[in-house]
Amino acid sequence: MKKILVTGGAGYIGSHIVEQLIKIKKNVVIIDNLSTGKKKLLNKKAKFFKCDIRDFKKLNEIIKRNNIVSIIHLAACLSVGESEKKPKKYFNNNVLGTKNLINCALLNNIKNFVFSSTCAVYKDGLKIVSEKSKLSPTSYYGKTKLLGEKMIIKNLNNKKINYAILRYFNVAGASRSGKIGQITKGDQLFKNLSVSSIKNHPKINIYGSNYNTKDGTCIRDYIHVSDISQIHIKVLKKIHTEKKSIILNCGYGIGISVMDAVKEFKKQIRKKIKISLKKKRKGDMEHIIANNNKIKKYLKWFPKKNNLSRIVKSCISWEKKLK
Ligand SMILES: NC(=O)c1ccc[n+]([C@@H]2O[C@H](COP(=O)([O-])OP(=O)(O)OC[C@H]3O[C@@H](n4cnc5c(N)ncnc54)[C@H](O)[C@@H]3O)[C@@H](O)[C@H]2O)c1
Repeated sequence: MKKILVTGGAGYIGSHIVEQLIKIKKNVVIIDNLSTGKKKLLNKKAKFFKCDIRDFKKLNEIIKRNNIVSIIHLAACLSVGESEKKPKKYFNNNVLGTKNLINCALLNNIKNFVFSSTCAVYKDGLKIVSEKSKLSPTSYYGKTKLLGEKMIIKNLNNKKINYAILRYFNVAGASRSGKIGQITKGDQLFKNLSVSSIKNHPKINIYGSNYNTKDGTCIRDYIHVSDISQIHIKVLKKIHTEKKSIILNCGYGIGISVMDAVKEFKKQIRKKIKISLKKKRKGDMEHIIANNNKIKKYLKWFPKKNNLSRIVKSCISWEKKLK
């Protein structure tokens, strides 16, 4: 039976994608080193291998022995702040890890390769970006993802491996099943607000309040984790049947400032949130929103959960469950 490999399948987004693949009866293999991923998020119906994608020999052996036909590659480190402080760690994990996986794909007759990229590959200051916008990452994290994209294009083009490069905007929310959501805390605003919201005295740090935006705080385009997962299912089917590769922005095209998000959490928890204004963080972009015309047309995709209040509600109820 042909199988789909999900690297990073014990992580926040990977576990959602696995849940949706299992729901449509796909055979799934997960590779994860559990560095930020959790055993708790592993789907029992998938075959799990604890493996680091930097370990070429082990990675190749797993792919060879498991009849893998498609790879969805999410395994990566993703903290913008940490990437500025530890660029070597990000290069090794995100660039060399991806290089290993590409080499395994070439050696093992893989047909489809889906890559988790990010809006952090775009030049800052453009505000609304299409797939043709200028690429010039502000953060080291963004640089590692752009290098990943370039390796995929260079090595998989003309090799009969169809690829999809998905540039996610900011992902938030938890699954409808209530079984999976974000566990690991990083520098993600919605996670930090959710954790703080369920405390008696919620507080949040805001990094930068004099950006050139409507309220001085950064603007992002948040996409619900269920919608981003659905995109993977659709794109895999599409590149497999059409035998063509594609690059797609994955966002709603709606700009939400840090302050907008804080206000929505405040409204829903009916408590004050104490704000501490901090200095801008190195690597943070000012304002980035997706032009999503291409994905809507190509996948006939319509977002189902593009509503801030719904996203915040699902974040809070997941956090309460985790407590
Ligand atoms: N969360 C977002 O808003 C967002 C936005 C843009 C892009 N992305 C991309 O989506 C992907 C998944 O992100 P997430 O939010 O689910 O984060 P996550 O940390 O929950 O998931 C990453 C997973 O990869 C695993 N991993 C990391 N390095 C590994 C390695 N060397 N070998 C094997 N496993 C490894 C981790 O243990 C974890 O399970 C990442 O590639 C990230 O860059 C996320």
